[in-house]
Amino acid sequence: MRASELVFPQRLRLAQTPTPLMPMHRFCLARGLPLIWLKRDDLTHSTASGNKIRKLEFCLAEAMQQQADVVLTYGGLQSNHCRATALLCAQLGLRCHLVLRSSSRPAEPADGNLLLDQLAGARISYVAARELACDAERIETDIVNEYHQQGLRTYCIPIGASDATGLWGYVAAAAELATDFDIHSINPAHIVTASGSGGTQSGLMAGAVAFGLSAKVWGINVCDDAHWFQQKIRDDLTQWDHKYSTGIDVNSLTVNMLDGHVGEGYAKASDEVLETIAAVARSEGIVFDPVYTGKAFHGLLKEIRAGRFDQPDDLVFMHTGGVFGLFPFKDRFSQLVSC
Ligand SMILES: Cc1ncc(COP(=O)(O)O)c(C=O)c1O
Repeated sequence: MRASELVFPQRLRLAQTPTPLMPMHRFCLARGLPLIWLKRDDLTHSTASGNKIRKLEFCLAEAMQQQADVVLTYGGLQSNHCRATALLCAQLGLRCHLVLRSSSRPAEPADGNLLLDQLAGARISYVAARELACDAERIETDIVNEYHQQGLRTYCIPIGASDATGLWGYVAAAAELATDFDIHSINPAHIVTASGSGGTQSGLMAGAVAFGLSAKVWGINVCDDAHWFQQKIRDDLTQWDHKYSTGIDVNSLTVNMLDGHVGEGYAKASDEVLETIAAVARSEGIVFDPVYTGKAFHGLLKEIRAGRFDQPDDLVFMHTGGVFGLFPFKDRFSQLVSC
């Protein structure tokens, strides 16, 4: 498979790319760590920042192509994906309906991502996690039918925009990384990302093959377990290949997971994770979030110290954004690091 043979589908240019690839000299030197580079996808946009905008460039292009009026998507109460979708829909003149996992209407005033969802004018349904898990299809059908009765067409995006369409976002990002590596004259052996719904990792895996990166792509799962992600990523890659006939042998790709860093659960962060976030902010002026990037980066440091990686120098960590998810943790931070 040569990159020139890969035919990208329609795409909207929404993200500020290419994003910088930056070395964490000070942080790594002070701790005797091999050099870690950050791919700064936290800089893809001011408010719609992070990894989701790359995927949404393809999903929202498809929505426009299908002449959708409403975009429906899903996530946790503090979903970065939902916030990015809400803001980008506003930018494109589309209506946005978010189904957020919550057993009750959250307390006012809203914080973090939820505040931005509201500001962007998204319509929000709060649905308990259990109900959503058991009854997702009916919930989606009811919402789509409701809009249909008003003469409106709905385009549905799954959690995290991790599907065959959204996957292209990180195939394109792998092409960007290939250029970054040339510019900096490095040849990293490892690229590590937080995995929440798997689309960033699967896109990077496919893109690494398409654009000739020799690096191994690793996911640090922030929820579920390695088995769940291996299945999900294989399914998404298979659907991607079926939909687009990519010419990439997706069955030959290995899903490398670094499991064991979820801690108490999704969206729960230990004091150690928060301390790592504060340490990076102080030594590099770069901010991770407690749910995805901070938890995964903390896990990465543990894996490096445990000797997990061969050729650990010039390892790349994807800074996939999430800064607004920091604010609901403000009380914990103020107790811990005297902010
Ligand atoms: C900030 C951030 N980083 C990483 C991820 C994980 O990406 P993915 O859902 O593609 O696995 C997400 C979303 O889940 C996220 O919001």
